[in-house]
Order: sequence, then C-alpha cells, then structure tokens
Amino acid sequence: MIDRECLCEKALEMRARAYTPYSHFQVGAALLCKDGSVYTGCNIENAAYTPSNCAERTAFFKAVSDGKREFAAIAIAGGAETAKDLDYCVPCGVCRQVMREFCDGSFEVILAKTPKDYRVFTLEELLPMGFGPENLDKKMVYMADEKL
Ligand code: THU
Repeated sequence: MIDRECLCEKALEMRARAYTPYSHFQVGAALLCKDGSVYTGCNIENAAYTPSNCAERTAFFKAVSDGKREFAAIAIAGGAETAKDLDYCVPCGVCRQVMREFCDGSFEVILAKTPKDYRVFTLEELLPMGFGPENLDKKMVYMADEKL
C-alpha cells in the first residue's frame, strides 16, 4: 500500500498539470482508494469562472467514473504559480462535501508542503456534522423521529 509521503509526491507533481490562466493558483491532488489504486487530479479553470473544477474533485470524479467507491486518503498540494515554498492548502467547502458523499469521518486529508512536510486531518475534523447520503434515507429519518 502506498504511503503518505508517496501520495504527497504525486499531489505535488500534479500541480504541473493545473490549468490556471485566471487564478494562477495551482493545485494537485492524489486520491488513494481502499483497493490501493491512486487517482490524481489538478484544478481546471474556465473563462466563465463558474465551471472551474478543483483538483480534489477532478481526482474524485475520475475515480468514481472508473467504478471506485471506497477511499482511504487524499493528498493535496497547492499554491501560487510563482510560489517558491508552499503553504498547507486546505480543501474548499464544495470539495469537502464531495468527500462526504463517498467517505466516512475517518477519511484522511493530507495537506502537503513537501513530500515530508505534511499535516493530516480527518474528514470529521474538516467537516463536522456534515450532510451526507444517510440524511436523505427516509428509514434513518424515521428512526431519528422515534427517538424523540
Ligand atoms: N482550488 C483547488 O483546486 N483546490 C483547493 O483545495 C482550493 C482551491 C483551486 C480552485 C481555483 O482554480 C484555484 O484553486 C483558486 O481558488
């Protein structure tokens, strides 16, 4: 199984693929599936701005469209094109919500400055009390009602 350092390396490498003519802020992501496979992504911007996609969602959508549904961790590396050193790049709210769709609270979000300098958070820490698929499950809602 790939280690955190290696996942960070892949996220850092993916920054080179970012399409960022507007923000000039390059982000790379590497998503580790529970079966050991890795899907990478970069941010892809658009002249109309709204259709832009973050690196994390690119990685998730590539993986899900390939039939993957179970994920262990994602490494994220981001910073300005001109930056010499990176800061830790946190995922936006929309990307946290996409993670919430497929992952439980123990999913690891690894913020990489370099392959060896990274911080690890759980999805539960980054998105407490998140709205997920089970909130739309009527059975779960009825069970909650019965407890009242
Ligand atoms: N961005 C990401 O790809 N991931 C993040 O975690 C934060 C932001 C992108 C979106 C946009 O293309 C650029 O970075 C500036 O916000």
